[in-house]
Amino acid sequence: MTTRIIGTGRSVPSRKVTNDDLAKIMDTSDEWIYTRTGIHNRHLVETETTTDMAADAAKQAMEKAGVGSEEIELIIVGTVSGDMCYPSTACLVQERIGAVNAVAYDISAGCSGFLFALNAAHAYISSGVYKCALVLGAETLSKMMDWSDRSTCVLFGDGAGAAVVKADATGIKAITQHSDGAGGGVLTCENRASNNPYVKNEITLPYTKMAGQDVFKFAVKMVPRCIQDVVEKAGMSVEDVDYFLLHQANKRIIESVSKRLNVPIEKFPTNIEHYGNTSAASIPILLDELNSAGTFKKGDVIVMSGFGAGLTWGATLLEW
Ligand code: COA
Repeated sequence: MTTRIIGTGRSVPSRKVTNDDLAKIMDTSDEWIYTRTGIHNRHLVETETTTDMAADAAKQAMEKAGVGSEEIELIIVGTVSGDMCYPSTACLVQERIGAVNAVAYDISAGCSGFLFALNAAHAYISSGVYKCALVLGAETLSKMMDWSDRSTCVLFGDGAGAAVVKADATGIKAITQHSDGAGGGVLTCENRASNNPYVKNEITLPYTKMAGQDVFKFAVKMVPRCIQDVVEKAGMSVEDVDYFLLHQANKRIIESVSKRLNVPIEKFPTNIEHYGNTSAASIPILLDELNSAGTFKKGDVIVMSGFGAGLTWGATLLEW
């Protein structure tokens, strides 16, 4: 028994912010952002919250799957930007969708969050613990940006994506996951500092800090390797794969992975132009766009690969 994706959904804030909009409030340009990243615009929250977007995406995924809220036994949300430190975003989503029979918790794995959530659900399902799960990636990274740091804030956007997965004979064939805590300093966001009566810390608002070129080098080295690995684990070769759904961090990273794997770029669908880097939400948003457009045929082989803060990275190969 394996794990099959039977419904998907997505949600982004209504406020679309173009590169030209950003150029009005900081020293940047559409030309700089687009040529280095492939991003044209992103959506940023005004009134929406991480939970709002996650619950919206979840409801769509359940409707498409034809699964009622009481059937869901497990909810895992990949996020680093929930509305609350606790309760988890997953528990907040559980309440919104009325999934009273589910156990719910979050996974913090940066931009690999959705992939790790999917793989965790797969571990439960393939071992017979649960039959039906809801997995999500949901982020409001805009609240974690230093908006005076133009080299980082222009890259990210807000959004959520969801998938309902169920036990089935067809679905996930192989997974691979990795972490490198020693390398994690290149992409960080501190938590609030200790402020108990025995320590003296200045209370400052912590924001995302990124060594962009180091993150770039990490991604173009590790992503092709883990894709090769997952394909081999499934007893296939990269030529057998119909679609590579990569975390949408940077179009140049995706192009580099395509070259290193010697696979035509046409097999790497992208939507980074429209959303920027939505962290854990990027893979499920792309998945839902393609699924809703009727792109996937039964039997198609799909590899998803995520990478990001931790450092974390991994890949999942499935048959649609
Ligand atoms: N607009 C205009 N100029 C900018 C700018 C912006 N938004 N941000 C930085 N610059 C300037 C820099 O100040 C620098 O100027 P200088 O040469 O006068 O010092 C110049 O542009 C080049 O900066 P650099 O950082 O070398 O650019 P880069 O080509 O490495 O591109 C990134 C920067 C961030 C786009 C690139 O490193 C990248 O995409 N890294 C991966 C990041 C990522 O994907 N993170 C998430 C992973 S999950």
